[in-house]
Amino acid sequence: MEASIAAVSQPKTNPIVLDEKRQKTVRTLINASHRKLLFLDQVVDWEKGIDFSKPPKVAESSWIYGTPYWDMLTEEQRNEVLWLETGRDVSYFIWLEQTLPELYVGYVNKYHGVLSDDVREYLMVFSREEIVHTLMFRRYLDKANLRLWSHPENIPNYSLFEQQLAGKHPVYGICWNLLIEWFAELNSIFQTQTDGIDPLTRQMFKEHHLEEVRHIAFAKTICENYFEAAPKEELAEMCEFFQKGYGFLLDEYTYMPEIALHASFDFPIKPGDEDKIREVRNSPNNQRLNAARFRDVREWCLKHNIIKQ
Ligand SMILES: [Fe+2]
Ligand SMILES: [Fe+2]
Repeated sequence: MEASIAAVSQPKTNPIVLDEKRQKTVRTLINASHRKLLFLDQVVDWEKGIDFSKPPKVAESSWIYGTPYWDMLTEEQRNEVLWLETGRDVSYFIWLEQTLPELYVGYVNKYHGVLSDDVREYLMVFSREEIVHTLMFRRYLDKANLRLWSHPENIPNYSLFEQQLAGKHPVYGICWNLLIEWFAELNSIFQTQTDGIDPLTRQMFKEHHLEEVRHIAFAKTICENYFEAAPKEELAEMCEFFQKGYGFLLDEYTYMPEIALHASFDFPIKPGDEDKIREVRNSPNNQRLNAARFRDVREWCLKHNIIKQ
C-alpha cells in the first residue's frame, strides 16, 4: 500500500513577531531556565515531610477570615480550613499546568514553519517546566493528605469561557494564562512566605515561584508586544473577553463553594448558599486582601486596557 502524506495546513504568517529588545528578553529567559531547573526530588525535603503543627498559610488569608463563619469555628476547624484552601490552590495549579503544555506545544505545531526559534524554544521550555510542577504538586497533595479538587470545568460559565480560547489568536491563550498564573503566584507568595508556616509548603511555593516569575515575564513580553501594534477593535474585543476572566479569578481567590464538600465537619456555608457566598467574597477582609496581593496584576491590566475598572 502506498504511503500517503497528508498536507499539514498551517497559517502562513507568524502570529508573534517580537522586536529586537524583546527577542533578547526571551533569550535571557531561555538561558536562565537551562541554567537553573527545578528537580522534583531536590526541590524540598520530601523525606522530612510536612510539619503539621504549623499551618500551610497565614490565617488572615483564609477565604472566610474576618466573617462570622470563621468566628464560629474551633481552632482545629480553622486549621483544617487553611489546609483545604491550600489543597484547592495546589489542585488548580495541577489542572492549569496540565493544560499548558498541550496548548503551547499545540502552538509550536500549528505555527511550526513561521514561529521564531526563540519563541518556539521558550514555549517548549515552559511546557517542560509545567509538567514537572504538576508532578511536584501531586506529590505534595499526597504528603499533605489532601484530596485533588474537582476540575475547574465544573465551575458554571468558566468552561464555556475557556473553550473559546482554542479558536483565538495565540496571544489570547498566552494572556489568559498569564492572568491565571499571575493571580495564583501573587496569592501563593502573599500567604506562605512568612515565619510560622510549614517549611515544606513555604519552600515549595518559593521554588515554584522562581520558575513562574520567568513564565510571567515571557507572557508579559509577548502580550505587550502585541498590544502595541494591535488594531483598536481587536484590543476592545480582548478587553471584553478578559474583563469576564478577571471576574472569575477574583471569585476563585475569595471563595470556592466546593470547600464544604471536603470539610470533615458541618461547614457553615453550603454550595448553594449564594447570599452567603457573595457576602464572603465581598467581605472587608477579602477586599483588603485583593487590594494588597493583586495590585501588580490589576495595575498591568488597567494600563493595557485589559480591564476597565
Ligand atoms: Fe508552574
Ligand atoms: Fe507557569
